[in-house]
Amino acid sequence: MSRLSISNLRERKQTGEKIACLTAYDASFARILDDAGVELLLVGDSLGMVVQGHDTTLPVSLDEMVYHARAVAAGSQRAFLMADMPFLGDATPAQALTSAGRLMKEGGAQMVKLEGGMPLRETVHLLSTRGVPVCSHLGLLPQSVHKQGGYRVQGRDAESAQTLLEEAREMAAAGADMLLLECVPAELAARITESVAIPVIGIGAGPSVDAQVLVLYDMLGITPGRRPSFSRDFLAASGDVPAAVAAYVQAVKDGSFPAPEHSF
Ligand code: KIV
Repeated sequence: MSRLSISNLRERKQTGEKIACLTAYDASFARILDDAGVELLLVGDSLGMVVQGHDTTLPVSLDEMVYHARAVAAGSQRAFLMADMPFLGDATPAQALTSAGRLMKEGGAQMVKLEGGMPLRETVHLLSTRGVPVCSHLGLLPQSVHKQGGYRVQGRDAESAQTLLEEAREMAAAGADMLLLECVPAELAARITESVAIPVIGIGAGPSVDAQVLVLYDMLGITPGRRPSFSRDFLAASGDVPAAVAAYVQAVKDGSFPAPEHSF
């Protein structure tokens, strides 16, 4: 079976079919997610928190991202595979190209996600012209937690909403093939989704984006501490992991997730 491609995901945006995404960090979960019809697996650097037990995603190394991406690639056959650029793995455009090369060549990633907007414009352009598909992660940036002053909803006032909208357009113009919006008001996410031709993934970004993603351990209710308000525990109602993941895919496809209580 061949993997879904960026063209398949673009087609879904055009037809309006929602795309179900989840994070994955190992081969066994990757197989369950793939079998349940999850269409995009994100090897997120959230693994620093949910797998390694750190307070933030900052300590995750490029070697660790490559290791986990390779495991997820080995366990899955159909899902599109995206891997996170770790904190400052893209400190310069040249370094970003080298890091992205490792995520693709050694990790098997089909796309690399970079956290940040305008400061990465040149990097996104370089990667895209060198055959590296890029997803630009905008809104709440977990790698910038110390700069943003905590994990907070972004784009709430008119000025920051306008900046985010312009940033999204600029990243698409620079060559990004996908956007990810984390914790932005649903109305703003809807405007951004309408204003770009590329698929937009949301987490805490309301129902109007093209794709939904959650951290796997949050939607299984096994992340220590409080579950984020934009997530839902699908395991509690389903009984086992494959059924929980299948329920998530179904809820994304039929639009019942996210519900109003999961949006800002
Ligand atoms: O690392 C991650 O899991 C992510 C999600 C929060 C989207 O970037």
